[in-house]
Amino acid sequence: MLDNAKNRPDLPAEIARRRTFAIISHPDAGKTTLTEKFLLFGGAIQMAGQVRAKGEARRTRSDFMAMEKDRGISVSASAMSFDFREYRFNLVDTPGHSDFSEDTYRTLTAVDAAVMVIDGAKGVESQTQKLFEVCRMRDLPILTFCNKMDRESRDVFEIIDEIQQNLAIDVTPASWPIGVGRDFLGCYDILRDRLELMDRADRNKVAESIEINGLDDPKLAEHVPPQLLEKLREDLEMVRELMPPLDIELMAEGSLTPIWFGSAINSFGVKELMEGIARFGPEPQIQSAEPRQILPEENKVAGFVFKVQANMDPKHRDRVAFVRLASGHFQRGMKLTHVRTRKPMSITNPVMFLASDRELAEEAWAGDIIGIPNHGQLRIGDTLTEGEAIRVTGIPSFAPELLQGVRAGDPLKSKHLEKALMQFAEEGAAKVFKPSIGSGFVVGVVGQLQFEVLASRIELEYGLPVRFEPSQFASARWVNGARPAVEKFIDTNKQHIAYDHDGDIVYLTRLQWDIDRVERDYPEVRLTATKEMM
Ligand code: G4P
Repeated sequence: MLDNAKNRPDLPAEIARRRTFAIISHPDAGKTTLTEKFLLFGGAIQMAGQVRAKGEARRTRSDFMAMEKDRGISVSASAMSFDFREYRFNLVDTPGHSDFSEDTYRTLTAVDAAVMVIDGAKGVESQTQKLFEVCRMRDLPILTFCNKMDRESRDVFEIIDEIQQNLAIDVTPASWPIGVGRDFLGCYDILRDRLELMDRADRNKVAESIEINGLDDPKLAEHVPPQLLEKLREDLEMVRELMPPLDIELMAEGSLTPIWFGSAINSFGVKELMEGIARFGPEPQIQSAEPRQILPEENKVAGFVFKVQANMDPKHRDRVAFVRLASGHFQRGMKLTHVRTRKPMSITNPVMFLASDRELAEEAWAGDIIGIPNHGQLRIGDTLTEGEAIRVTGIPSFAPELLQGVRAGDPLKSKHLEKALMQFAEEGAAKVFKPSIGSGFVVGVVGQLQFEVLASRIELEYGLPVRFEPSQFASARWVNGARPAVEKFIDTNKQHIAYDHDGDIVYLTRLQWDIDRVERDYPEVRLTATKEMM
Protein backbone atom coordinates (compact mmCIF):
# COMPACT_ATOMS: atom_id res chain seq x y z
CA MET A 1 0.00 0.00 0.00
CA LEU A 2 2.80 2.38 0.81
CA ASP A 3 4.70 2.07 -2.39
CA ASN A 4 4.69 4.76 -4.99
CA ALA A 5 1.34 6.28 -5.69
CA LYS A 6 1.21 5.00 -9.21
CA ASN A 7 -2.22 6.08 -10.20
CA ARG A 8 -0.95 6.46 -13.78
CA PRO A 9 0.94 3.23 -14.38
CA ASP A 10 1.47 3.84 -18.10
CA LEU A 11 3.65 6.89 -17.69
CA PRO A 12 7.08 6.80 -19.32
CA ALA A 13 9.78 6.64 -16.65
CA GLU A 14 10.95 10.19 -17.34
CA ILE A 15 7.50 11.52 -16.56
CA ALA A 16 6.78 9.15 -13.68
CA ARG A 17 9.85 10.44 -11.82
CA ARG A 18 8.62 14.03 -11.84
CA ARG A 19 7.11 15.66 -8.79
CA THR A 20 5.73 19.14 -9.32
CA PHE A 21 4.58 20.90 -6.18
CA ALA A 22 4.30 24.19 -4.30
CA ILE A 23 4.80 25.14 -0.66
CA ILE A 24 1.96 26.86 1.14
CA SER A 25 2.44 28.52 4.50
CA HIS A 26 1.91 31.57 6.64
CA PRO A 27 4.80 34.09 6.56
CA ASP A 28 7.58 33.11 8.98
CA ALA A 29 6.59 29.46 9.25
CA GLY A 30 9.80 28.52 7.45
CA LYS A 31 9.06 28.26 3.75
CA THR A 32 12.30 29.93 2.70
CA THR A 33 14.38 27.84 5.06
CA LEU A 34 12.71 24.65 3.91
CA THR A 35 13.20 25.58 0.26
CA GLU A 36 16.85 26.15 0.96
CA LYS A 37 17.20 22.74 2.59
CA PHE A 38 15.41 21.11 -0.32
CA LEU A 39 18.03 22.59 -2.57
CA LEU A 40 20.78 21.49 -0.26
CA PHE A 41 19.59 17.90 -0.21
CA GLY A 42 18.77 18.10 -3.88
CA GLY A 43 22.48 18.77 -4.40
CA ALA A 44 21.67 22.08 -6.01
CA ILE A 45 23.64 24.18 -3.59
CA GLN A 46 26.64 23.27 -1.52
CA MET A 47 25.82 25.04 1.67
CA ALA A 48 22.59 26.59 2.82
CA GLY A 49 23.33 30.29 2.90
CA GLN A 50 21.73 33.24 4.55
CA VAL A 51 18.41 33.90 2.96
CA ARG A 52 17.43 36.71 5.17
CA ALA A 53 15.94 39.53 3.17
CA LYS A 54 13.93 41.43 5.68
CA GLY A 55 10.77 43.45 5.68
CA GLU A 56 8.58 44.60 2.84
CA ALA A 57 10.96 43.76 0.04
CA ARG A 58 10.79 40.15 0.99
CA ARG A 59 7.07 40.07 1.59
CA THR A 60 6.05 41.76 -1.60
CA ARG A 61 8.39 40.19 -4.09
CA SER A 62 8.78 36.55 -4.64
CA ASP A 63 10.88 34.86 -2.02
CA PHE A 64 12.83 33.24 -4.78
CA MET A 65 13.75 36.64 -6.11
CA ALA A 66 14.86 37.72 -2.67
CA MET A 67 16.96 34.59 -2.52
CA GLU A 68 18.45 35.35 -5.85
CA LYS A 69 19.42 38.81 -4.73
CA ASP A 70 20.65 37.96 -1.31
CA ARG A 71 22.52 34.84 -2.03
CA GLY A 72 24.11 35.98 -5.20
CA ILE A 73 23.25 32.75 -6.92
CA SER A 74 20.74 32.74 -9.66
CA VAL A 75 17.91 30.60 -8.45
CA SER A 76 14.97 31.96 -10.38
CA ALA A 77 11.67 33.47 -10.00
CA SER A 78 8.69 31.21 -9.99
CA ALA A 79 9.97 27.69 -10.47
CA MET A 80 13.01 25.65 -9.57
CA SER A 81 14.03 22.17 -10.54
CA PHE A 82 16.39 19.85 -8.74
CA ASP A 83 17.03 16.15 -8.43
CA PHE A 84 16.48 14.06 -5.36
CA ARG A 85 17.62 10.48 -5.73
CA GLU A 86 16.05 9.22 -8.95
CA TYR A 87 13.36 11.89 -8.84
CA ARG A 88 13.11 15.26 -10.49
CA PHE A 89 11.43 17.81 -8.23
CA ASN A 90 9.86 20.96 -9.67
CA LEU A 91 9.12 23.42 -6.92
CA VAL A 92 6.81 26.23 -7.97
CA ASP A 93 6.89 29.38 -5.89
CA THR A 94 3.68 30.76 -4.46
CA PRO A 95 3.63 34.55 -4.25
CA GLY A 96 5.20 35.82 -1.06
CA HIS A 97 2.71 38.52 -0.12
CA SER A 98 0.00 37.83 2.34
CA ASP A 99 -3.07 38.77 0.33
CA PHE A 100 -4.86 35.98 -1.37
CA SER A 101 -4.59 36.65 -5.04
CA GLU A 102 -5.53 34.88 -8.19
CA ASP A 103 -1.85 34.69 -8.90
CA THR A 104 -1.71 32.15 -6.11
CA TYR A 105 -4.65 30.28 -7.47
CA ARG A 106 -3.09 30.09 -10.91
CA THR A 107 0.23 28.97 -9.50
CA LEU A 108 -1.57 26.10 -7.89
CA THR A 109 -3.06 25.09 -11.26
CA ALA A 110 0.49 24.24 -12.33
CA VAL A 111 1.27 21.75 -9.55
CA ASP A 112 0.21 18.23 -8.66
CA ALA A 113 0.61 18.57 -4.89
CA ALA A 114 1.30 21.08 -2.14
CA VAL A 115 3.50 20.95 0.93
CA MET A 116 1.85 22.80 3.80
CA VAL A 117 4.32 24.17 6.33
CA ILE A 118 3.07 25.11 9.76
CA ASP A 119 4.89 26.48 12.77
CA GLY A 120 4.64 24.01 15.65
CA ALA A 121 4.12 26.82 18.14
CA LYS A 122 1.44 28.57 16.13
CA GLY A 123 -0.54 25.87 14.39
CA VAL A 124 -2.83 26.73 11.50
CA GLU A 125 -2.54 30.47 10.78
CA SER A 126 -4.70 32.67 8.60
CA GLN A 127 -2.64 32.60 5.42
CA THR A 128 -2.22 28.83 5.62
CA GLN A 129 -5.94 28.51 5.93
CA LYS A 130 -6.60 30.69 2.86
CA LEU A 131 -4.04 28.88 0.74
CA PHE A 132 -5.37 25.56 1.89
CA GLU A 133 -8.85 26.56 0.72
CA VAL A 134 -7.39 27.22 -2.71
CA CYS A 135 -5.80 23.77 -2.76
CA ARG A 136 -9.10 22.33 -1.73
CA MET A 137 -10.86 23.91 -4.72
CA ARG A 138 -8.56 21.79 -6.85
CA ASP A 139 -8.55 18.71 -4.58
CA LEU A 140 -4.75 18.90 -4.47
CA PRO A 141 -2.95 16.31 -2.37
CA ILE A 142 -1.32 17.94 0.66
CA LEU A 143 1.76 16.82 2.57
CA THR A 144 2.21 18.61 5.88
CA PHE A 145 5.45 19.63 7.56
CA CYS A 146 5.21 20.83 11.16
CA ASN A 147 8.28 23.01 11.59
CA LYS A 148 10.31 24.50 14.45
CA MET A 149 10.02 21.48 16.72
CA ASP A 150 13.37 22.51 18.21
CA ARG A 151 11.48 25.32 19.93
CA GLU A 152 8.73 25.14 22.53
CA SER A 153 5.77 24.00 20.52
CA ARG A 154 2.17 23.14 21.10
CA ASP A 155 1.06 19.68 22.13
CA VAL A 156 1.27 17.46 19.06
CA PHE A 157 -2.22 15.99 19.44
CA GLU A 158 -3.55 19.51 19.75
CA ILE A 159 -1.82 20.58 16.52
CA ILE A 160 -3.20 17.61 14.65
CA ASP A 161 -6.64 18.24 16.05
CA GLU A 162 -6.47 21.86 14.96
CA ILE A 163 -5.57 20.87 11.41
CA GLN A 164 -8.44 18.40 11.33
CA GLN A 165 -10.94 20.87 12.75
CA ASN A 166 -9.91 24.03 10.92
CA LEU A 167 -9.13 22.53 7.57
CA ALA A 168 -11.55 19.63 7.57
CA ILE A 169 -8.90 17.16 6.46
CA ASP A 170 -7.88 13.92 8.13
CA VAL A 171 -4.32 13.76 9.40
CA THR A 172 -2.06 10.74 9.67
CA PRO A 173 1.36 11.09 11.32
CA ALA A 174 4.26 9.88 9.20
CA SER A 175 6.68 10.66 12.01
CA TRP A 176 6.34 11.45 15.70
CA PRO A 177 8.43 13.94 17.71
CA ILE A 178 10.37 12.81 20.75
CA GLY A 179 10.53 15.57 23.34
CA VAL A 180 9.87 19.25 22.66
CA GLY A 181 11.83 22.46 22.64
CA ARG A 182 15.18 22.09 24.34
CA ASP A 183 14.48 18.41 24.95
CA PHE A 184 13.62 17.70 21.34
CA LEU A 185 15.67 14.68 20.38
CA GLY A 186 14.33 13.80 17.00
CA CYS A 187 11.51 11.75 15.58
CA TYR A 188 10.28 8.23 15.35
CA ASP A 189 9.70 7.47 11.68
CA ILE A 190 6.37 5.67 11.79
CA LEU A 191 6.43 4.67 8.14
CA ARG A 192 9.76 2.87 8.36
CA ASP A 193 10.28 2.11 12.04
CA ARG A 194 13.38 4.20 12.35
CA LEU A 195 14.72 6.58 14.88
CA GLU A 196 15.92 9.90 13.49
CA LEU A 197 18.15 11.88 15.81
CA MET A 198 18.72 15.57 15.35
CA ASP A 199 22.22 17.00 15.38
CA ARG A 200 22.03 20.46 16.93
CA ALA A 201 25.68 21.12 16.30
CA ASP A 202 25.57 21.00 12.54
CA ARG A 203 22.54 22.60 10.98
CA ASN A 204 23.28 21.36 7.50
CA LYS A 205 23.78 17.76 8.43
CA VAL A 206 21.29 15.05 7.66
CA ALA A 207 19.99 13.41 10.82
CA GLU A 208 21.47 10.21 12.10
CA SER A 209 19.10 7.43 11.30
CA ILE A 210 18.86 4.25 13.36
CA GLU A 211 16.87 1.30 12.19
CA ILE A 212 14.53 0.03 14.87
CA ASN A 213 12.72 -3.24 14.98
CA GLY A 214 9.41 -2.02 16.40
CA LEU A 215 8.77 -0.14 19.63
CA ASP A 216 10.10 -2.96 21.83
CA ASP A 217 13.53 -2.93 20.25
CA PRO A 218 16.10 -2.47 23.08
CA LYS A 219 18.06 -0.17 20.76
CA LEU A 220 15.48 2.51 21.46
CA ALA A 221 16.49 2.72 25.10
CA GLU A 222 20.11 3.26 24.11
CA HIS A 223 19.20 6.53 22.45
CA VAL A 224 16.06 7.80 24.18
CA PRO A 225 15.96 8.57 27.93
CA PRO A 226 13.37 6.51 29.87
CA GLN A 227 10.81 9.29 30.43
CA LEU A 228 10.75 10.30 26.79
CA LEU A 229 10.62 6.70 25.70
CA GLU A 230 7.62 6.01 27.89
CA LYS A 231 5.85 9.05 26.49
CA LEU A 232 6.71 8.02 22.94
CA ARG A 233 5.23 4.56 23.47
CA GLU A 234 2.07 6.02 24.97
CA ASP A 235 1.73 8.57 22.22
CA LEU A 236 2.17 6.02 19.47
CA GLU A 237 -0.36 3.76 21.12
CA MET A 238 -2.87 6.61 20.98
CA VAL A 239 -1.94 7.39 17.40
CA ARG A 240 -2.62 3.82 16.44
CA GLU A 241 -5.99 3.88 18.15
CA LEU A 242 -7.19 7.32 17.16
CA MET A 243 -5.72 8.22 13.82
CA PRO A 244 -6.29 6.78 10.39
CA PRO A 245 -3.47 4.91 8.65
CA LEU A 246 -1.88 6.38 5.55
CA ASP A 247 -4.10 5.67 2.59
CA ILE A 248 -2.59 6.85 -0.69
CA GLU A 249 -5.89 7.15 -2.45
CA LEU A 250 -7.39 9.37 0.23
CA MET A 251 -4.24 11.45 0.12
CA ALA A 252 -4.40 11.74 -3.66
CA GLU A 253 -7.92 13.12 -3.51
CA GLY A 254 -6.97 15.64 -0.85
CA SER A 255 -8.98 14.28 2.08
CA LEU A 256 -6.06 12.93 4.13
CA THR A 257 -2.68 14.54 4.79
CA PRO A 258 0.42 12.84 6.15
CA ILE A 259 2.31 15.00 8.65
CA TRP A 260 6.05 15.06 9.32
CA PHE A 261 7.59 16.87 12.27
CA GLY A 262 10.94 18.55 12.05
CA SER A 263 13.09 21.62 12.15
CA ALA A 264 13.96 23.08 8.80
CA ILE A 265 16.73 25.26 10.17
CA ASN A 266 18.40 22.18 11.64
CA SER A 267 17.83 20.26 8.39
CA PHE A 268 15.80 17.88 10.48
CA GLY A 269 12.87 15.96 9.04
CA VAL A 270 13.46 17.49 5.63
CA LYS A 271 14.87 14.37 4.02
CA GLU A 272 11.93 12.30 5.28
CA LEU A 273 9.54 14.87 3.84
CA MET A 274 11.35 14.70 0.50
CA GLU A 275 11.17 10.92 0.58
CA GLY A 276 7.46 11.32 1.24
CA ILE A 277 7.05 13.57 -1.80
CA ALA A 278 9.02 11.08 -3.88
CA ARG A 279 7.09 8.04 -2.68
CA PHE A 280 3.59 9.40 -2.51
CA GLY A 281 3.87 11.91 -5.27
CA PRO A 282 1.76 12.16 -7.11
CA GLU A 283 3.12 11.90 -10.60
CA PRO A 284 2.12 14.41 -13.27
CA GLN A 285 -1.65 14.28 -13.52
CA ILE A 286 -4.24 14.54 -16.25
CA GLN A 287 -4.95 18.12 -17.33
CA SER A 288 -8.49 19.28 -17.94
CA ALA A 289 -8.94 20.91 -21.34
CA GLU A 290 -11.47 21.48 -24.10
CA PRO A 291 -12.59 19.63 -26.14
CA ARG A 292 -10.71 16.77 -24.49
CA GLN A 293 -8.42 16.31 -21.51
CA ILE A 294 -4.67 15.92 -21.91
CA LEU A 295 -2.86 12.83 -20.64
CA PRO A 296 0.76 13.34 -19.58
CA GLU A 297 1.90 10.24 -21.46
CA GLU A 298 0.70 11.50 -24.84
CA ASN A 299 3.55 11.69 -27.34
CA LYS A 300 2.71 15.17 -28.48
CA VAL A 301 3.64 18.18 -26.44
CA ALA A 302 0.99 20.37 -24.87
CA GLY A 303 1.41 22.99 -22.19
CA PHE A 304 -0.22 26.09 -20.75
CA VAL A 305 0.87 29.47 -19.46
CA PHE A 306 0.07 29.89 -15.76
CA LYS A 307 2.18 32.94 -15.09
CA VAL A 308 3.76 35.78 -16.95
CA GLN A 309 6.54 37.77 -15.46
CA ALA A 310 7.66 41.01 -16.99
CA ASN A 311 10.80 42.99 -16.38
CA MET A 312 12.81 40.17 -14.92
CA ASP A 313 15.68 42.00 -16.44
CA PRO A 314 14.94 45.74 -16.17
CA LYS A 315 17.25 46.42 -19.12
CA HIS A 316 15.07 44.46 -21.48
CA ARG A 317 11.35 44.84 -21.51
CA ASP A 318 10.82 41.21 -22.34
CA ARG A 319 8.60 38.83 -20.49
CA VAL A 320 8.90 35.28 -19.48
CA ALA A 321 5.82 33.11 -19.76
CA PHE A 322 5.92 30.16 -17.40
CA VAL A 323 4.54 27.08 -19.07
CA ARG A 324 3.57 23.88 -17.34
CA LEU A 325 4.00 21.00 -19.73
CA ALA A 326 0.89 18.86 -19.62
CA SER A 327 2.09 16.14 -21.98
CA GLY A 328 4.89 14.82 -24.12
CA HIS A 329 8.60 15.34 -24.47
CA PHE A 330 9.61 18.87 -25.36
CA GLN A 331 12.83 19.58 -27.20
CA ARG A 332 14.42 22.95 -27.72
CA GLY A 333 13.73 24.46 -31.12
CA MET A 334 10.34 22.79 -31.42
CA LYS A 335 7.65 24.61 -33.30
CA LEU A 336 4.47 24.79 -31.26
CA THR A 337 1.08 26.21 -32.12
CA HIS A 338 -0.15 29.09 -30.06
CA VAL A 339 -3.74 27.91 -29.91
CA ARG A 340 -5.40 31.29 -29.19
CA THR A 341 -3.98 32.94 -32.30
CA ARG A 342 -3.41 29.70 -34.29
CA LYS A 343 0.10 30.98 -35.01
CA PRO A 344 3.21 28.81 -34.96
CA MET A 345 5.92 29.73 -32.45
CA SER A 346 9.47 28.45 -32.55
CA ILE A 347 10.59 27.86 -29.04
CA THR A 348 14.28 28.46 -29.48
CA ASN A 349 15.40 29.81 -26.14
CA PRO A 350 13.29 28.27 -23.43
CA VAL A 351 14.74 28.45 -19.94
CA MET A 352 14.49 26.03 -17.13
CA PHE A 353 15.27 27.10 -13.65
CA LEU A 354 17.66 24.54 -12.38
CA ALA A 355 18.37 25.64 -8.88
CA SER A 356 22.03 26.13 -9.57
CA ASP A 357 21.43 28.41 -12.50
CA ARG A 358 19.00 29.60 -15.10
CA GLU A 359 19.71 27.39 -18.08
CA LEU A 360 18.59 26.81 -21.59
CA ALA A 361 16.13 23.96 -21.50
CA GLU A 362 17.33 21.47 -24.09
CA GLU A 363 14.46 19.20 -23.21
CA ALA A 364 11.61 18.93 -20.78
CA TRP A 365 8.85 16.45 -19.99
CA ALA A 366 5.27 16.56 -18.87
CA GLY A 367 5.26 17.94 -15.35
CA ASP A 368 8.16 20.34 -15.95
CA ILE A 369 7.94 24.11 -15.97
CA ILE A 370 9.75 26.00 -18.70
CA GLY A 371 10.08 29.74 -19.12
CA ILE A 372 9.53 31.12 -22.62
CA PRO A 373 10.86 34.63 -23.21
CA ASN A 374 8.53 36.58 -25.52
CA HIS A 375 7.40 40.09 -26.32
CA GLY A 376 3.87 39.81 -25.01
CA GLN A 377 2.32 37.21 -27.32
CA LEU A 378 1.95 34.70 -24.53
CA ARG A 379 -0.75 35.42 -22.00
CA ILE A 380 -1.93 33.66 -18.90
CA GLY A 381 -4.22 30.78 -19.81
CA ASP A 382 -2.78 30.30 -23.32
CA THR A 383 -2.27 26.77 -24.54
CA LEU A 384 0.62 25.60 -26.73
CA THR A 385 0.33 22.34 -28.67
CA GLU A 386 1.88 20.53 -31.63
CA GLY A 387 -1.05 21.66 -33.76
CA GLU A 388 -4.21 20.39 -32.15
CA ALA A 389 -6.74 23.04 -31.11
CA ILE A 390 -7.04 22.10 -27.46
CA ARG A 391 -7.51 24.70 -24.79
CA VAL A 392 -6.55 24.06 -21.20
CA THR A 393 -9.37 25.00 -18.85
CA GLY A 394 -9.63 25.89 -15.20
CA ILE A 395 -7.45 28.99 -15.17
CA PRO A 396 -9.91 31.63 -14.18
CA SER A 397 -9.65 35.32 -13.77
CA PHE A 398 -11.52 36.49 -10.68
CA ALA A 399 -13.47 39.73 -10.37
CA PRO A 400 -11.43 42.01 -8.13
CA GLU A 401 -12.76 42.81 -4.69
CA LEU A 402 -11.24 46.27 -4.39
CA LEU A 403 -11.32 49.01 -7.01
CA GLN A 404 -9.41 52.28 -7.10
CA GLY A 405 -8.80 55.00 -9.62
CA VAL A 406 -5.21 55.67 -10.60
CA ARG A 407 -3.46 58.79 -11.83
CA ALA A 408 0.07 59.55 -12.91
CA GLY A 409 1.80 62.03 -10.60
CA ASP A 410 2.68 63.93 -13.77
CA PRO A 411 -0.46 64.35 -15.94
CA LEU A 412 1.67 64.45 -19.10
CA LYS A 413 2.73 60.89 -18.46
CA SER A 414 -0.68 59.27 -18.75
CA LYS A 415 0.29 57.37 -21.90
CA HIS A 416 3.19 55.85 -20.01
CA LEU A 417 0.85 54.94 -17.23
CA GLU A 418 -1.46 53.19 -19.66
CA LYS A 419 1.44 51.12 -20.94
CA ALA A 420 2.55 50.16 -17.46
CA LEU A 421 -0.99 49.25 -16.42
CA MET A 422 -1.52 47.10 -19.49
CA GLN A 423 1.64 45.24 -18.77
CA PHE A 424 0.58 44.48 -15.21
CA ALA A 425 -2.85 43.44 -16.42
CA GLU A 426 -1.26 40.99 -18.85
CA GLU A 427 0.95 39.68 -16.10
CA GLY A 428 -2.20 39.10 -14.09
CA ALA A 429 -0.98 41.36 -11.27
CA ALA A 430 -4.12 43.51 -11.40
CA LYS A 431 -7.28 44.11 -13.39
CA VAL A 432 -7.30 47.30 -15.40
CA PHE A 433 -10.57 48.73 -16.63
CA LYS A 434 -11.01 51.65 -19.00
CA PRO A 435 -14.40 53.26 -18.36
CA SER A 436 -16.31 54.02 -21.56
CA ILE A 437 -16.99 57.55 -20.36
CA GLY A 438 -14.31 59.93 -19.14
CA SER A 439 -10.58 59.46 -18.87
CA GLY A 440 -8.40 57.50 -16.50
CA PHE A 441 -8.38 53.93 -15.38
CA VAL A 442 -9.91 51.86 -12.66
CA VAL A 443 -7.59 49.26 -11.17
CA GLY A 444 -8.94 46.22 -9.40
CA VAL A 445 -7.14 43.88 -7.02
CA VAL A 446 -8.05 41.19 -4.54
CA GLY A 447 -6.11 42.51 -1.52
CA GLN A 448 -5.23 46.04 -0.42
CA LEU A 449 -1.51 45.33 -0.35
CA GLN A 450 -1.52 44.79 -4.09
CA PHE A 451 -2.14 48.53 -4.65
CA GLU A 452 1.06 49.30 -2.79
CA VAL A 453 2.97 46.65 -4.68
CA LEU A 454 1.69 48.05 -7.97
CA ALA A 455 2.53 51.64 -7.09
CA SER A 456 6.05 50.69 -6.13
CA ARG A 457 6.55 48.53 -9.21
CA ILE A 458 5.27 51.26 -11.56
CA GLU A 459 7.64 53.71 -9.96
CA LEU A 460 10.55 51.29 -9.96
CA GLU A 461 10.11 49.79 -13.40
CA TYR A 462 8.70 52.78 -15.30
CA GLY A 463 10.06 55.70 -13.26
CA LEU A 464 6.50 56.89 -12.85
CA PRO A 465 5.11 58.03 -9.50
CA VAL A 466 1.38 57.27 -9.31
CA ARG A 467 -1.49 57.96 -6.98
CA PHE A 468 -4.30 55.57 -6.21
CA GLU A 469 -7.54 57.23 -5.18
CA PRO A 470 -11.01 56.12 -4.16
CA SER A 471 -13.20 55.05 -7.03
CA GLN A 472 -16.94 55.53 -7.32
CA PHE A 473 -17.15 51.81 -8.08
CA ALA A 474 -16.83 48.87 -5.75
CA SER A 475 -17.51 45.78 -7.90
CA ALA A 476 -16.82 44.59 -11.40
CA ARG A 477 -18.59 41.90 -13.41
CA TRP A 478 -17.93 40.63 -16.90
CA VAL A 479 -20.83 41.04 -19.28
CA ASN A 480 -21.90 38.08 -21.42
CA GLY A 481 -24.89 37.23 -23.51
CA ALA A 482 -26.45 37.48 -26.95
CA ARG A 483 -25.15 40.46 -28.91
CA PRO A 484 -28.36 42.52 -29.37
CA ALA A 485 -29.24 42.21 -25.68
CA VAL A 486 -25.70 43.16 -24.62
CA GLU A 487 -25.67 46.17 -26.98
CA LYS A 488 -28.94 47.44 -25.62
CA PHE A 489 -27.64 46.93 -22.10
CA ILE A 490 -24.47 48.90 -22.87
CA ASP A 491 -26.46 51.74 -24.43
CA THR A 492 -28.61 52.27 -21.38
CA ASN A 493 -25.86 51.77 -18.80
CA LYS A 494 -22.96 53.70 -20.36
CA GLN A 495 -21.81 55.28 -17.11
CA HIS A 496 -21.24 51.77 -15.69
CA ILE A 497 -19.51 50.23 -18.68
CA ALA A 498 -15.77 49.71 -19.00
CA TYR A 499 -13.40 47.46 -20.95
CA ASP A 500 -10.70 45.21 -19.56
CA HIS A 501 -7.25 44.84 -21.12
CA ASP A 502 -8.53 42.14 -23.48
CA GLY A 503 -11.29 44.49 -24.64
CA ASP A 504 -13.98 42.46 -22.88
CA ILE A 505 -16.99 44.33 -21.57
CA VAL A 506 -17.21 44.94 -17.84
CA TYR A 507 -20.02 46.33 -15.71
CA LEU A 508 -18.78 48.49 -12.82
CA THR A 509 -20.97 49.36 -9.92
CA ARG A 510 -21.09 50.40 -6.32
CA LEU A 511 -23.97 48.23 -5.19
CA GLN A 512 -24.86 44.56 -5.17
CA TRP A 513 -28.36 45.87 -5.64
CA ASP A 514 -27.40 47.07 -9.15
CA ILE A 515 -26.15 43.62 -10.06
CA ASP A 516 -29.42 42.06 -8.90
CA ARG A 517 -31.34 44.66 -10.87
CA VAL A 518 -29.46 43.87 -14.08
CA GLU A 519 -30.17 40.20 -13.60
CA ARG A 520 -33.85 41.01 -13.20
CA ASP A 521 -34.22 43.61 -15.93
CA TYR A 522 -31.96 42.00 -18.54
CA PRO A 523 -32.60 38.28 -18.42
CA GLU A 524 -30.53 37.74 -21.56
CA VAL A 525 -27.47 39.44 -20.11
CA ARG A 526 -25.22 37.45 -17.79
CA LEU A 527 -22.91 39.13 -15.29
CA THR A 528 -20.07 36.88 -14.11
CA ALA A 529 -17.49 37.21 -11.37
CA THR A 530 -14.96 35.01 -13.16
CA LYS A 531 -13.76 34.82 -16.68
CA GLU A 532 -11.84 31.90 -18.14
CA MET A 533 -8.55 33.17 -19.49
CA MET A 534 -8.32 32.40 -23.18
P1 G4P B 1 9.09 32.14 5.61
O1 G4P B 1 9.86 31.99 4.33
O2 G4P B 1 8.01 31.13 5.75
O3 G4P B 1 8.62 33.51 5.88
O4 G4P B 1 10.06 31.77 6.83
P2 G4P B 1 11.64 31.69 6.92
O5 G4P B 1 12.14 30.46 6.31
O6 G4P B 1 12.24 32.97 6.50
O7 G4P B 1 11.78 31.51 8.48
C1 G4P B 1 11.25 32.47 9.39
C2 G4P B 1 12.07 32.48 10.67
O8 G4P B 1 11.98 31.21 11.30
C3 G4P B 1 13.54 32.72 10.42
O9 G4P B 1 14.02 33.41 11.55
C4 G4P B 1 14.12 31.33 10.41
O10 G4P B 1 15.48 31.28 10.76
C5 G4P B 1 13.28 30.67 11.48
N1 G4P B 1 13.20 29.22 11.33
C6 G4P B 1 12.95 28.49 10.20
N2 G4P B 1 12.95 27.18 10.49
C7 G4P B 1 13.18 27.06 11.82
C8 G4P B 1 13.30 25.95 12.71
O11 G4P B 1 13.19 24.80 12.34
N3 G4P B 1 13.53 26.26 14.01
C9 G4P B 1 13.67 27.52 14.46
N4 G4P B 1 13.90 27.70 15.75
N5 G4P B 1 13.58 28.60 13.65
C10 G4P B 1 13.33 28.36 12.35
P3 G4P B 1 14.32 34.97 11.55
O12 G4P B 1 14.44 35.40 12.95
O13 G4P B 1 13.31 35.69 10.67
O14 G4P B 1 15.65 35.03 10.80
P4 G4P B 1 17.07 34.67 11.42
O15 G4P B 1 17.28 35.63 12.50
O16 G4P B 1 16.99 33.25 11.89
O17 G4P B 1 17.99 34.81 10.25
